[in-house]
Amino acid sequence: MDLFEYQARDLFAKHGVPVLAGEVIDTPEAAREATERLGGRSVVKAQVKVGGRGKAGGVKLAATPDEAVARATDILGMDIKGHTVHKVMIAETAPEIAEEYYVSYLLDRTNRTFLAMASVEGGMDIEEVAATKPEALAKIPVDANEGVTEAKAREIVEAAKFPAEVKDQVAEILVTLWKTFVAEDALLVEVNPLAKVADGRVIALDGKVSLDANADFRHPDHAELEDKAAANPLEAAAKAKNLNYVKLDGEVGIIGNGAGLVMSTLDVVAYAGEAHGGVKPANFLDIGGGASAEVMANGLEIILGDPDVKSVFVNVFGGITACDEVANGIVQALNLLSSRGEEVTKPLVVRLDGNNAELGRKILSDANHPLVQRVDTMDGAADKAAELAAAK
Ligand SMILES: Nc1ncnc2c1ncn2[C@@H]1O[C@H](COP(=O)(O)OP(=O)(O)O)[C@@H](O)[C@H]1O
Ligand SMILES: [Mg+2]
Repeated sequence: MDLFEYQARDLFAKHGVPVLAGEVIDTPEAAREATERLGGRSVVKAQVKVGGRGKAGGVKLAATPDEAVARATDILGMDIKGHTVHKVMIAETAPEIAEEYYVSYLLDRTNRTFLAMASVEGGMDIEEVAATKPEALAKIPVDANEGVTEAKAREIVEAAKFPAEVKDQVAEILVTLWKTFVAEDALLVEVNPLAKVADGRVIALDGKVSLDANADFRHPDHAELEDKAAANPLEAAAKAKNLNYVKLDGEVGIIGNGAGLVMSTLDVVAYAGEAHGGVKPANFLDIGGGASAEVMANGLEIILGDPDVKSVFVNVFGGITACDEVANGIVQALNLLSSRGEEVTKPLVVRLDGNNAELGRKILSDANHPLVQRVDTMDGAADKAAELAAAK
């Protein structure tokens, strides 16, 4: 889960990374009081989960409380790279910025380690620096067991050639930032800029944090960091039922068992859809190993709840849960849905293969549900589902 800058700021503050005061607001008028609390001037910062806010006009200085209201009025509702600004942070204005650095820690999956990155050429052009001057971005692997000790922090500071007068401060921040990374189970913490300001202090002026959802169980406090307004209600409903559901932007709903089969089903449907006017998958849901009637009903309910879905492709390969159980699951799920008062009106194409396929297919044929069609090959079923979606 990616956090907003103000949430990253709060986590940094909690663990002792130096930050400036800031509070998040969602109306222009609230910018006035917040700015007054900061002594009459502030920086108004768009809170969107995308970089480059400064260049897009989403970070503005306000010299008076009135100006803060005006800047907040401009920025709230603004579109930054497809993200609408619903909240702004009113931040304390940094003393004059002398230099802008970059530091981050991230999980380096390719090399199966953690990685520290640092540069004295931070700020709004770091992507360009990384692309055109890779030598200006130091990359130092961090051993998971050793972490960032003071010695490791010094190694990073030397590699990135931080100026002598900030070395101690930056090293200390690197150690604290590592503690934050570990304590919060983050996949990424990034500070850009880490600024050296007029009075000699080094402060984190912008932060990006991505938390590892696999560690949510040991962080009950992370639940409230979720952006509930942005969460897709169907994704939330699926999560509550322990189903993996992902929304896409096409027309064919997809249910399958197992990540590999589901992924290849997406490809097959997208390919088949080309012959039917460019029909594409609308979403996908992995019901996992077991496919009881209950799980199937929950899955169908979510897939059919997506208004973009015009047809559904249920693609199951019977394994430990054999096809006859799955077929019974589908039949019962349809009954369960009508008994819950959710009339199924969209066509379902079902392809069953694997363990007890014949028996499963017979169960579907015998049930003779008006909306269910059996197609026994994956390509054929994908084509039928795409055709039905295009016809709607
Ligand atoms: N509190 C602040 N005080 C003064 N200047 C700031 C402050 N926060 C950000 N800035 C300036 O605005 C630039 C862009 O802000 P930043 O928060 O890094 O947004 P983004 O990276 O999305 O463009 C920074 O590089 C810095 O120069
Ligand atoms: Mg930044």
